[in-house]
Amino acid sequence: MKKILAIETSCDDTSVAVIDTDYNVHANLISSQPEHDLFGGVVPELASRVHLKNIVHLTEAALKKAQITFDDIDAIAVSVNPGLIGALLVGVSYAKSLAYGLGLPLIAVNHMVGHVAVNMIEHKDEMVAPYLVLVVSGGHTELAHFTAEREFEIVGRTIDDAAGEAFDKSAKLLGLGYPGGPIIDKLAKQGDSSYQSFTIGMKKKDNYNFSFSGLKTAIRNFIESHSRDELEEHKYDIAASVQTGIVDNLLYKTLNYLDKNRIKKLVLAGGVSANSELRSRLETETAKRNVKLIYPSLKYCTDNAAMIGAAAVEKLHRKEFSDLDLNAFSTKGFRIL
Ligand code: KG4
Ligand code: ZN
Repeated sequence: MKKILAIETSCDDTSVAVIDTDYNVHANLISSQPEHDLFGGVVPELASRVHLKNIVHLTEAALKKAQITFDDIDAIAVSVNPGLIGALLVGVSYAKSLAYGLGLPLIAVNHMVGHVAVNMIEHKDEMVAPYLVLVVSGGHTELAHFTAEREFEIVGRTIDDAAGEAFDKSAKLLGLGYPGGPIIDKLAKQGDSSYQSFTIGMKKKDNYNFSFSGLKTAIRNFIESHSRDELEEHKYDIAASVQTGIVDNLLYKTLNYLDKNRIKKLVLAGGVSANSELRSRLETETAKRNVKLIYPSLKYCTDNAAMIGAAAVEKLHRKEFSDLDLNAFSTKGFRIL
């Protein structure tokens, strides 16, 4: 059994993990960056600088947590795309210096593949194709149909905002803070989602693409036509209505694809898969259809380095290593480059 040191710096969380080739996680440390709170969103250059400050100490702490030293590591894995380019470059440069200094193989990981692969940690035996993956993060909303191991087709994607972005932008419009997803999720628990309908999607279109820009406009119009007092009084109901609007959108296309293609397994991936309404409504809908639903526990939904390590396991088995001229890319999607 080999051990991988995995590094994730694609956005505003610095994370370092130690995972072995049996998918046991020995450490998965995440240092989030409160430095951005003042600005109501992630400031890219600031993110890079904070990664640079944290990465060495976090790596030392991860090794300590795993009760090992660099001598026990067999490979270095790092996320190379998609993400903020300056932030990714910190992780990639550090990973390269470790691989060079320690004489270890270097494994490049696509961040989105990491979000899917994290399910191997808790559901290894069930992650057998065919299955449909609903990838919902801050930058991506995609339906990926896996027909075999590592073979997939993107059958639907957002044509404007991503689901996480829809949560974040709605929260910003409502003055609720950042990141919007967890805040709306929490408020919604005390609200009534029938208060206002924000279910504006692409229901009539005969495809599996998503759109959230109509919802954003509806929220803006709603805010402009209500007083501050009314908005404050109904804060919980509005959060519940927004959340239901976003989840309705996701469910409609996902369930449609499952039904039409008779797929019996659905996998959730990405930060928005932490959403309680998305999880519980999908539990109900998949049970009705006899579809197996797989999702990560909360700590593995949002960005973390264990997911990068999980995606690297297969690459280590196949000896798919990168040279030391490896670069980082901001390119969106599931492929490196
Ligand atoms: O996957 P992730 O950590 O980073 C990216 O790769 O983008 O996803 C971050 C996104 C943010 O938009 C955040 O608001 C959303 O995931 N998110 C949630 C929840 N927790 C995080 N959205 C809805 N409900 C949640 N509980
Ligand atoms: Zn992510």
